[in-house]
Formats: sequence, structure tokens, C-alpha cells
Amino acid sequence: MKIVNSIKELKNFLSKEKENGFSVGFVPTMGALHQGHISLVNRCVGDNHVCVVSIFVNPTQFNDKKDLETYPRTPEKDITLLESAGCNYLFAPSEHEMYPEPDTRVFDFGQLTEVMEGEHRPGHFNGVAQIVSKLFAAAEPDRAYFGEKDFQQVAVIRAMTKQLHLPIQIIACPILREADGLAMSSRNVRLTKEQCQKAPLIAQTLKESTNFAVGKSVKDVTAYVTDTLNKEPVMRVEYFDIVDGYTLLSINDWSETTYPVGCIAVFCGEVRLIDNITYEIK
Ligand code: PAJ
Repeated sequence: MKIVNSIKELKNFLSKEKENGFSVGFVPTMGALHQGHISLVNRCVGDNHVCVVSIFVNPTQFNDKKDLETYPRTPEKDITLLESAGCNYLFAPSEHEMYPEPDTRVFDFGQLTEVMEGEHRPGHFNGVAQIVSKLFAAAEPDRAYFGEKDFQQVAVIRAMTKQLHLPIQIIACPILREADGLAMSSRNVRLTKEQCQKAPLIAQTLKESTNFAVGKSVKDVTAYVTDTLNKEPVMRVEYFDIVDGYTLLSINDWSETTYPVGCIAVFCGEVRLIDNITYEIK
């Protein structure tokens, strides 16, 4: 695996690969890699001749300064994991490399970013679009891989790719979970021992709610999930919305969509966790 720090160098390497007719797959990350990230890398390695992974903790997408400061960084472990997964290029730029001057671009994704994460983390998706558009311009991949754990992020990236007319196929990959159901996340390492024991309740409650949903209204299911989790002193639900998985707009009735998805953000102590589940209402 080659470790590359500059855009120029990355472009040089990749243009040679492309001249040889090799397809390029790309997995953007912020590092502190876990098996959820590696599942994206595995898919990328399987689909493409060349796999590029980026690690960059992007300051413009953090609306909470403390979250940025405490974001875990494990560069050595990341390199080992990527090497054994068969990644060909690790792109690990400095902040100055990605932002030689402040990025003043303002994206407009309409209603897509007015709800859920967009509503509760102002500026977050603008920062994501800024960095991912820069990373896409640097790697010019044929395919790019994103996890459905960040359900709204996938929709935003698809919208951005369309707006910018980028010839990149966006591939959404399923959520990887711990054995107890907890969605894998770089932030999980920040949970205390007690919070660690409680955090799996989020995924478990979402799963139970798919059984509970039979014969129930959207409102009943929303209340079930929110109340069950808020009963735990260590948890505070920031939002739980059942949305149309295509438009991300809240639904009031199951008949409003063929693809209902329940999206949640929960504070477990100080750590903000997100997860989602698809309902199959017949
Ligand atoms: P990060 O949180 O590091 O996640 C990188 C990618 O891994 C994202 O596409 C995310 O959805 C995916 N991922 C994380 N946990 C996962 C899990 N348990 N199962 C499957 N996929 C998982 O998302 C970002 O970084 C940033 O916003 C980024 C796109 C890199 C832009 O800075």
C-alpha cells in the first residue's frame, strides 16, 4: 500500500493506473477504522482494480468543537487494517493540503438537509459536501463507497454528485454491527463501560420496533422507540423520525412510502450515536 499525502502525487499515481485501463474505487473516511469501514474497503477491493482510501478528519463538518478535538485518531492501526484488507493507496492529506484557503462554497440540497442530522448539526452536510467534492476531484474514482449507517449522508452525496455532474457511481453498503447489535462507530471507543453496556439498546429497540409496528401507526412506533430509550437514565433521544427513505421527509402514515426508514440520534452520556432501520410494512 502506498501512502500519499499530496493531491498532486495522488493524481500522478492514479493517472498511470487509469492509463492502464484500471478502474478506481474510493472509500472516504475520517480514520479510527473499524470493521464497518473495512466492509466498505472489502467491497471496493472486490469491485475495482485499484482501491483508494482517504483518512482526513474534516474540520468543516464538525459543528461541535469538542467533538472535533476528541475525535479518535489511530493512524498506525488504520494502516495495518488497510494493508491487510488489500487497499492500494492511502490518501492522508494535511489540513493545509485540503484547505489551502477557507472553503466558502455553500451547497443547497433543499429539504434533504433540513431534517434530522441537517437540522440538529447545522453546517454539517455543507462541510461533508465540501470535503467529499474535493476528495472526488483529487481521486476521480469510478465508484465511491458509503455506509448506510450515515443514511442521510448517502442521500446528500448522491445529490451532490448529481448537481456537480460527476461521473462517479455511489454505492451504499449495509451497516456493520457488533454481536450485540450496536452499530460500529469510531465514536464507540468514547463510551464508558456503563454506557457501553447500555448502547446496544438503541439497535435492539429499533429491531423490536419492527415487530411492534405490525398493526400500529407511525406515531405509535415513534413513541415506542423514543419512550423505551428515554427510560434509560444514561440515554437521551435527540430525534427519532420515520421517513421516506428516498426523500427523507417524515411520514405520518405507512401508505406514504414504499421505503419507510426509522432514523435515530441518541446521546449515550456525552457520546452522540446514530442508527437506522428499514420497516417492512405489508
Ligand atoms: P466516517 O465516519 O469515518 O465513515 C466513513 C464511512 O464509513 C462512511 O461512509 C460511513 O457511513 C461508513 N461507516 C461507518 N460506520 C459504519 C458501519 N458500522 N457499517 C457500515 N459503514 C460504516 O462518514 C464520514 O467518515 C465522513 O463524513 C466522510 C464521508 C469521510 C467525509 O468527511
